[in-house]
Amino acid sequence: MEPADPERWKRAAAAAAIAEVQDGMILGLGTGSTAAHAVRLVGDRVAQGLRITAVATSRATATAARAAGIPLIAPDGLAEIDLCIDGVDEIDPGLRAIKGGGGAMLLEKIVATLARRNIAIADVAKRVERLGARAVPIEVLQAAQGLVTATLTRLGGTGTLRASSAGMVLTDSGHPILDATFPAIPDPLRLARALSEIPGVLGHGLFLTEIDALYCAGPDGLTHQERPADA
Ligand code: A5P
Repeated sequence: MEPADPERWKRAAAAAAIAEVQDGMILGLGTGSTAAHAVRLVGDRVAQGLRITAVATSRATATAARAAGIPLIAPDGLAEIDLCIDGVDEIDPGLRAIKGGGGAMLLEKIVATLARRNIAIADVAKRVERLGARAVPIEVLQAAQGLVTATLTRLGGTGTLRASSAGMVLTDSGHPILDATFPAIPDPLRLARALSEIPGVLGHGLFLTEIDALYCAGPDGLTHQERPADA
């Protein structure tokens, strides 16, 4: 077994996913430390002649992509993109995930929904048997903060406004984030529907149907998993 080296594992997962990128694609670029490896590796391939256009899921990713020489377009007018590669905070054996540790879950969900294929990239620490050890981030309209917090309590959870030493954390779109924790999430689909129904919820970090494949690396090497066609 190799010594623990999460950054190398993240890079290995990203490299495996990047092998699926082909000339002419519109590529969604995720957010976070794992996706950052993918951005750098795509940049290397662009420098070697790969011709793609990319859609960034956050300002941080857009900055990194520009630095890596990757041509960018806004998602605004797009009806479809070819492939999206993004990290996860937790992923279960059914390729259901929690995302949004970096606060980019709404744009990540938009880009993932536009994408014909979504690849999750992760190190083994992200694998869980059941979702819910980490918070489900929720982007909310500021006026709905109280409503969403109260509804989370009724759903058996706790909503905590994300803040840093500089104050309230806002998403790239300027909205607050409520991090929702639950003692357990026995039915993620039901929770996702309940969250989506709350007025003022703009997006949440439960990605239950979007992810088509996972490349995951750890001390025992790289694994590749595809979502079964009927799942
Ligand atoms: C960004 O908002 C998130 O959804 C990230 O994709 C997720 O938090 C994974 O980030 P790391 O790769 O940094 O763990």
